[in-house]
Amino acid sequence: MTTTANLTARQRFNHAVRCQPVDRAPMWLMRQAGRALPEYRKLKEKWTFVQLCQNPELAVEVTLQPIRRFGFDAAILFSDILVIPEAMGQKYHFKETGGVQMDFAVTSKADIEKLSVEHVVERLNYVEQALKMLRKELGDQTALLGFTGSPWTLATFMMEGASVPKYGRALQLFREDKQTFFALLEKLTAAVTVYLKMQIATGIDALQIFDSHGGHLAPTEFQEASGRWTNQIIASLGGKVPVIHFSLGTHGNWPDLIASGANILGIDWQTDLAEARKIIPAHIAMQGNLSPVLLAEATPKAVAAETNKVLETMRGRPGHIFNLGHGLTPAAKLENIQALVDTVKNFK
Ligand code: CP3
Repeated sequence: MTTTANLTARQRFNHAVRCQPVDRAPMWLMRQAGRALPEYRKLKEKWTFVQLCQNPELAVEVTLQPIRRFGFDAAILFSDILVIPEAMGQKYHFKETGGVQMDFAVTSKADIEKLSVEHVVERLNYVEQALKMLRKELGDQTALLGFTGSPWTLATFMMEGASVPKYGRALQLFREDKQTFFALLEKLTAAVTVYLKMQIATGIDALQIFDSHGGHLAPTEFQEASGRWTNQIIASLGGKVPVIHFSLGTHGNWPDLIASGANILGIDWQTDLAEARKIIPAHIAMQGNLSPVLLAEATPKAVAAETNKVLETMRGRPGHIFNLGHGLTPAAKLENIQALVDTVKNFK
């Protein structure tokens, strides 16, 4: 018989992602590493964002900061989805005024041909080092998550060459020149696959695929432009670790997401959790879905009340990982994060 007494955070997380019994929902927050924490901002006085990502000791430190302060059940590596295009030859930096800027945009067949898959794992050696150090540091106590961007979401950034209000170029290429679009997505799929295999070999407990721009596609386009590529990646990982699929604005695509091979589906904050619970089969775990803006704009009392609603909606459903329904924003208040954490820990 499985007992749920005295679970470590790592065990709690690992049971929940497999829809096994737990004492309470495990929790972590998307974008918990960095941004909202004063100890992160202190490091930012000395180092740029990309330097913090590329230095394993510093990336480990930023990853551990939210674990020390809040005791989350899982740590997510401090890094970025755009380290993949960077390793393929498209350098970028974070603009302190907000957003990211790449050195050039991928706009032609020639640009796609120049992108290199061969050296991705070698160039991302700093990620490998950081994950190995984290595994040692966290030991059996706390779960460790790796991650990637989905090929589609990466393509949207690579084709604009920056954070922009509207990611139209990848959509246009998909609609007007499928052959070229597929050439880019094939390269990205190959790069993401080798990258994730490297992450898995370091001993991570699970990994998350961020398809943050999946919802920019019409439901009729989603599978061809995004879903099939992530499905291919998940299949080639061979079930070695549980895979969390997070996408934003794609609840019109539940059948595709359920069939994606992902073991856990991230539920975005605009999706009705009770409805999602009815649709998602019992063998797939669910992650989410508190509204992230609450943490910046509401009071601790309101955050506790909304956190309780999420937990109540998922009561009795094996396989719930508490999280936000999208990433923590820089304006999130520490007392609100604390209220969320206390509420999840004390939920009976
Ligand atoms: O979850 C975590 O804490 C791990 C670290 C992490 C970061 N980015 C650090 C980061 C993760 C998992 C990401 C994923 C990521 N990166 C996504 C997908 C998730 C999502 O929010 O939809 C995307 C789209 C990116 C690309 C990216 N990185 C953009 C567009 C920007 C600039 C805009 C922004 O959101 O700040 C970044 C910068 C970034 N990535 C920061 C952090 C902590 C901010 C850097 C800073 O403020 O110092």
